[in-house]
Amino acid sequence: QDAKFKNEFDILEFAKGFYHYYLNHTKEGKVALDYLHNRGMSDETIAKFGIGLAPSYSDALVKTLANNRYSLDVAMKLGLLNEHNGQYYDRFKSRIMFPIFDKIGHVVGFSGRVFLEGDTHLGKYVNSPESPIFQKGKLIYHLNDAKLAIRRHNRVLLFEGFLDVISAVEAGFVESVATMGTALTEDHSRELRRLTDQIILCFDGDKAGLAAANKAIPILMAQNFSVSVVEIPNKMDPDEFIKTHGKEAFSKLIDQAIPAVDYQYRYIKRQFNLEFVSHREQFKRQIYHFAYTLQSHTLQELILKKLAYDISIGEQSILQEFNSSKSQVYKNANINNNKNENLQIHSRQV
Ligand code: GTP
Ligand code: MN
Ligand code: MN
Ligand code: MN
Ligand code: MN
Repeated sequence: QDAKFKNEFDILEFAKGFYHYYLNHTKEGKVALDYLHNRGMSDETIAKFGIGLAPSYSDALVKTLANNRYSLDVAMKLGLLNEHNGQYYDRFKSRIMFPIFDKIGHVVGFSGRVFLEGDTHLGKYVNSPESPIFQKGKLIYHLNDAKLAIRRHNRVLLFEGFLDVISAVEAGFVESVATMGTALTEDHSRELRRLTDQIILCFDGDKAGLAAANKAIPILMAQNFSVSVVEIPNKMDPDEFIKTHGKEAFSKLIDQAIPAVDYQYRYIKRQFNLEFVSHREQFKRQIYHFAYTLQSHTLQELILKKLAYDISIGEQSILQEFNSSKSQVYKNANINNNKNENLQIHSRQV
């Protein structure tokens, strides 16, 4: 009966085609296309990323699926439909639809963005719900198409938003990926580590982006990634930066990416006003905690010397205090970093 129903991926692929057609061939689609064009997106990019539009009325997809003899129960399970009083309705309405592909290129879900002025209160993005095939903690946007480039350049650029990825790819950085709006997980990290050991974080330049980078670093370092961080100026995100300043400027930012350890040091330092002695004391404590987590003795010593300089205390005092407070802090902070347990700070001046 359901002649066309082979598997779940077929329904999702069909939905992708439906949304894409609707974007390109209808009056409503024209408005959404203008929105995308105004953001600087080309028709080529729209086609390449399979971008579409969910119609404004609530039975567009469901009727089309039924007419084409797809299983509505399965479409419901995949999060394409809602159910109300025993009736199925479209879940996505009046949203620009970004298909999400898994690492071998199957459509596994969608992210839908509002584009009408009056719709912003509805939430900027709606994603497909979690399901066995759509797991945000594992999904990496654009991984399928980035794989080769990641291997070839031996690096991956990680973004916060998939729209940043689209911009970066248009600018020539094919080795770009993003998580689906969730914090980086161990699973994400492991998946990427199979392809390269160099990762460059290109998160938004706002407070949330800086914090997200700081959180992602230890997860990546735990898998022996060499991590660096691009700092986007003026609280822009990479998409805005590329659109404003161009791809050469973005390429420069990437070349100037900050090594993770320096980024972490600066991230901690930014939280304090070092004109206040009490802030210096708190800053020092936080840097000690941070220093305990470092595997390399050399890095540890360099960080402590930087600290000594920043708070105008002698290097020897800092190194000695760090060493003597070490065991105490270990107990309190419960840092599971056994390798550092018998650590001695080497210092020429001792
Ligand atoms: P634009 O505003 O369209 O340029 O998107 P953006 O990529 O700059 O989005 P933003 O920086 O606000 O968020 C980064 C990522 O977080 C997005 O790509 C989404 O995956 C996710 N995100 C942001 N807002 C929402 C939301 O309202 N709901 C959900 N589910 N995810 C969101
Ligand atoms: Mn246009
Ligand atoms: Mn943001
Ligand atoms: Mn953003
Ligand atoms: Mn953006």
